[in-house]
Amino acid sequence: MKIFLDTASIQELRQAISTGFVEGVTTNPSLLARQKSDKTVEGLLLEICKLQSGPVSLEVDEDREESMLAQARWFRQLASNIVIKVPLTPEGLNVCRILRSEGTEVNVTLCFSCAQGFLAAKAGATFVSPFIGRLEDSGGCGIELLRDLRSMMDHYGFSTQILAASIRNPRHVAEALQAGADVATMPFSVLFQLYAHPLTQQGLMLFRQDSQTKAPFVSS
Ligand code: E4P
Repeated sequence: MKIFLDTASIQELRQAISTGFVEGVTTNPSLLARQKSDKTVEGLLLEICKLQSGPVSLEVDEDREESMLAQARWFRQLASNIVIKVPLTPEGLNVCRILRSEGTEVNVTLCFSCAQGFLAAKAGATFVSPFIGRLEDSGGCGIELLRDLRSMMDHYGFSTQILAASIRNPRHVAEALQAGADVATMPFSVLFQLYAHPLTQQGLMLFRQDSQTKAPFVSS
């Protein structure tokens, strides 16, 4: 399973890339709006795409099919690794089909059911993004959705990759792994939480204390 970073922050991205684990980036209009940068959105995206050579998802924010398509075509010429993110709506899926026929990679976002994922796969989506955290916030079951999507994709031979999104904690990452998601996109904080376990910290402290009470390996 690949790890993508869900961010529009250059600072976060730089630090996360230094782990050697980040293979792509997802953004959304809310993440971009939260950035307090003197750069334009275009400038910010160009910098993200320069730092990360893997897929960088950029979401259209138009409602109508024609305007969505025009925006997507403008976005895709910004960098060769741009993936266009479209919503799981009739218009979004029509745009997905057209963009895919033009060779553009598409991430269909805001997926909350297996039936929706099926439509995204039939429209030829490169990625479909089930929103685990938001589904659970409204009483649904994230891992069940991921499992249903995995068996549906495998049973019918769809090549659409399952990109687990709206990940809020390491448990969601473990569930994405158990369900066989192709990618998990996570916030900066969750990426670093993956390293942490109280017993690792406790063990480390104990080893450090013990090593101070022993004679050095090399005598001077
Ligand atoms: C994914 O592509 C989305 O940007 C993201 O995962 C949404 O997460 P949220 O529900 O925490 O906002």
